[in-house]
Amino acid sequence: MDAHKDFFSDDAYPQAANYIRRKTHHQPKIGLILGSGLSPLADEIEHADHIPYTEIPYFPVSGVVGHAGKLVIGELAGKSVLVMQGRTHFYEGYSIQHITLPVRVMRLLGVQTLIVTNAAGGLNQSFTAGDLMLITDQINLVGMAGYHPLRGPNLAEFGPRFPSMTHAYDPALLALARQAAAELNLKLQEGVYICLAGPSFETPAENRFLRLIGADAVGMSTAHEVVVANHAGMRVLGISTITNISILETASTAETTHEEVLETGKVVVPTLTALLKGILAHLD
Ligand code: HPA
Repeated sequence: MDAHKDFFSDDAYPQAANYIRRKTHHQPKIGLILGSGLSPLADEIEHADHIPYTEIPYFPVSGVVGHAGKLVIGELAGKSVLVMQGRTHFYEGYSIQHITLPVRVMRLLGVQTLIVTNAAGGLNQSFTAGDLMLITDQINLVGMAGYHPLRGPNLAEFGPRFPSMTHAYDPALLALARQAAAELNLKLQEGVYICLAGPSFETPAENRFLRLIGADAVGMSTAHEVVVANHAGMRVLGISTITNISILETASTAETTHEEVLETGKVVVPTLTALLKGILAHLD
């Protein structure tokens, strides 16, 4: 498999989908992508079938600590779900088209609603590490720089050449998430997610720039998946776990580390699980 492949032909996606179909009797309409440190959430899935990414044709495989690397297909809150326990990132060397391949495969499997989660730095200084943030909108900085998942021939069977992104995060799902959080008496921040390539964390000057252009949370994933999901007509809900507060001043003595990101992720998993179960219970 060529890790740097830019475009995939029409038949790569069905090959991956067919392989998965043969390995499970579940027919999930909901997909869930778990971000850094959030893998333990997949342990909540009942009657689960486990499929390692390494077995699935064309699937990208992550080598990052905190990303498990398998599909977990089963039930959560009584709903059939397909969970990606771990995802791959652009900084690992895969093309943007390759790391978003699983989203299209989900679409072929019948997934209509995609829930994306991630670990993110809190640019918004009113946030606290451990907060959950409902993603209301996004800035795909990597895509704007030309590394766009829809670059190349348009596969019309998935969607149009120029898809709208006005409601990238589905308004009805946003309302439902707010309702579920209120019912659980759970604090839910809201804001704009911005995607950078990584893997270095941002300098204070970069963080000030990101804040200035309207972002509340910064991470290294998600935005391209959300573009591909919108292109394919899927409804998207996004939740960031704010694992650290972004450092805005060089005079600061603090540092952002991957260990801190994973540690906060671990702590927040039970809250995120409760919220997701609440949301799923309301989904039709
Ligand atoms: N920056 C970028 N990505 C991240 C961060 C951050 O501060 N925290 C978790 N993922």
